[in-house]
Amino acid sequence: MDVRVLTHPYVQAVLTELRDKSTGQIEFRKSLVRLGRALGFEIIRDFELERVTVETPLGVCAEGVKIKDLDRVLIVTVLRAAWPMTEGLIKIFPKARQGIISARRVEERGMKEDMSFDIDVEYVRLPSIGTEDVIIIVDPMVATGSTIETVLKVLNKHGKGKHYIIASAITTPVAIDRIRRVGENLGLNMTIYTAAIDPQINERGYIVPGLGDAGDRAFGG
Ligand code: URA
Repeated sequence: MDVRVLTHPYVQAVLTELRDKSTGQIEFRKSLVRLGRALGFEIIRDFELERVTVETPLGVCAEGVKIKDLDRVLIVTVLRAAWPMTEGLIKIFPKARQGIISARRVEERGMKEDMSFDIDVEYVRLPSIGTEDVIIIVDPMVATGSTIETVLKVLNKHGKGKHYIIASAITTPVAIDRIRRVGENLGLNMTIYTAAIDPQINERGYIVPGLGDAGDRAFGG
C-alpha cells in the first residue's frame, strides 16, 4: 500500500487554515472543498493518458491528452464530515458515480486497547462495483482506521474494484498500519492520499495536533 503526503504549498496552506481554531464554520467548510479538489488533482496523476490531436480555432493542430477511465471512478462519501471534500473531488471527477456510507464511531464505548473503535453503520447506498473501478473513499480524519476498516469490509461485499484510494486531510501511523493490514487481508490494491500524518491520537480518539471535530466544525455543531 502506498501512502502519499501532499507537500504542495497550496495544500499545506489549506491544511493550516483547517487546523487553526480561529477559522470559522464557512471558511472551514470551504477549505475542505479546496482540499478535496487538490487531492483530486494529485489522484489523477495515477490515471492513464491517451494522446490526442485537436484542431484549435486558428485552424492548426495541437497535440494533447485525454485522461482515460474517468467514467470508472466511484466516490464513496463517509458521512458526514466527508461531504465538503467530496464536493471538491467531484469538480475533478465530474463523471464519477457516487456511494454513501454513514458510519459512526461509537465513542460512548470508548477507544479499545488496540486503539480501535466499534463502528455503527447506519446507512449504505452504493452502485455496483466493477473490476475496473477506481474507488475513492473520502474521509477527512482517519484517526484509528476503524471506520475505513469497516467501510472496506462493506465495499468488499459489493464487488472488487481495481484500485482503492483513501482521500483524507489527516491520518496517523496507527490508522495506516490498520488499513494496510485490512487491505492485505482483503487483497485490495490501495493508496492513501493525505495532507498530513499526525503523530498522536488522544484518549478520546482525536488526532493530535489535528484540527478538532471536522464534522462539527464544517457543519456548525
Ligand atoms: N474525527 C474528527 O473529526 N477528528 C479527529 O481528530 C478524529 C476523528
